[in-house]
Amino acid sequence: MTDRNAPTAHPIHPLIAGRHSPRAYTDAPVTAEQLASILEAGRWAASCFNEQPWNFVVARRDADPEAFATLLGLLGAFNQVWAKDAGALVITVARKVFTGNGNPNAVALYDVGQAAANMVLQAASMGLASRQMRGFDVERARVELGVPADNDPVSAIAFGVPGDAAKILPPDVAAKEGLPRVRKPIGDFSHVGKFGTSFTG
Ligand SMILES: Cc1cc2nc3c(=O)[nH]c(=O)nc-3n(C[C@H](O)[C@H](O)[C@H](O)COP(=O)(O)O)c2cc1C
Repeated sequence: MTDRNAPTAHPIHPLIAGRHSPRAYTDAPVTAEQLASILEAGRWAASCFNEQPWNFVVARRDADPEAFATLLGLLGAFNQVWAKDAGALVITVARKVFTGNGNPNAVALYDVGQAAANMVLQAASMGLASRQMRGFDVERARVELGVPADNDPVSAIAFGVPGDAAKILPPDVAAKEGLPRVRKPIGDFSHVGKFGTSFTG
């Protein structure tokens, strides 16, 4: 496997630099303990008013085969082709209103994203890779997963032990795995005081 660490322009924590989103997973399971730690990391994310507007529908490939098949079946075909080998799948769900007063929560997606970031970094710290997906059928997820009203399915996340893409994936999918990891420069999205003056470090 090639080095997938981020080629950073400034020093960052190795856990962040090393987190990446492979599509190739071995047949090793994700254990209940590992999934519990991943969910625990999500649990401890910050959120507006400590609302914790996240729900997670989870299935482990070996332990919950029916639920895993349901979650896998929600994914687009281009995701199913590789995600079928993941050790666990998670669908993240955002509650769009505050529990206390029913007012719209404008930052629910923000908070669910923070929980997801915690979870993928926790997984990385345990040697598990992940790939997040929006390529799934949101409307079918509402029905098949029993998502309550006032909640929106947000993303799917595959977790597993990363494997050798050349051996595991069809050639056309494996070919995507070696592409360089690229990001915009900091100055493109960081502005001193207001838009128009780039932060250059
Ligand atoms: C919200 C979200 C949705 C994504 N949707 C998909 C998807 O449907 N299929 C896919 O293969 N990758 C998907 N990705 C993975 C991104 O393409 C990937 O994170 C991005 O290219 C950066 O690569 P890296 O995570 O290895 O740094 C998604 C990522 C996020 C965060």
